[in-house]
Amino acid sequence: MSERGSEAAGRSSRASRADRPRVLLLSGPNLNLLGEREPEVYGTETLADHVATADAAAKEHGLDLEHVQSNAEAELVEAVHGARGRCAAIVVNAGALTHYAWSLHDALAMFDGVIVELHLSNPNAREPWRHTSVVAPVARGSIVGFGGHGYALAVEAVARLLSS
Ligand code: DQA
Repeated sequence: MSERGSEAAGRSSRASRADRPRVLLLSGPNLNLLGEREPEVYGTETLADHVATADAAAKEHGLDLEHVQSNAEAELVEAVHGARGRCAAIVVNAGALTHYAWSLHDALAMFDGVIVELHLSNPNAREPWRHTSVVAPVARGSIVGFGGHGYALAVEAVARLLSS
């Protein structure tokens, strides 16, 4: 390929990267300890493993993925604000905040894009306090109970929703 040709190819691959829809994967409290945390409930994979799964699925579907994990509700709210007008979708596993964090609900309600709720376990089959989700009412759908595979399923759901 001539120099000009490869320059043009470089430019166009940079351009197409910039054009790819962005997906924010949001991880709430205690998910940073996956791998050590209650492995009988959440498995032995780490959060980095799940992010890698989501990232591979995103690449497969022509999406760019970014990840934010925080143990603080305010930081998650700010990450949602930061995604407005920039990201096409949010996949959110809010950990225990799922069950009571109305400020996260309100932030997600202002996000103008696809939202998919994700959980490793099936909260509906666990303690009663986990049966309420404040994320579900603002999400297009929820993927729960499939362990780490849920990360690929959630990204696939996003890809389908964005292309339909
Ligand atoms: C979780 C379920 C929540 O109830 C719990 O508080 C978590 C993990 C899950 O992925 O299964 O932190 O979101």
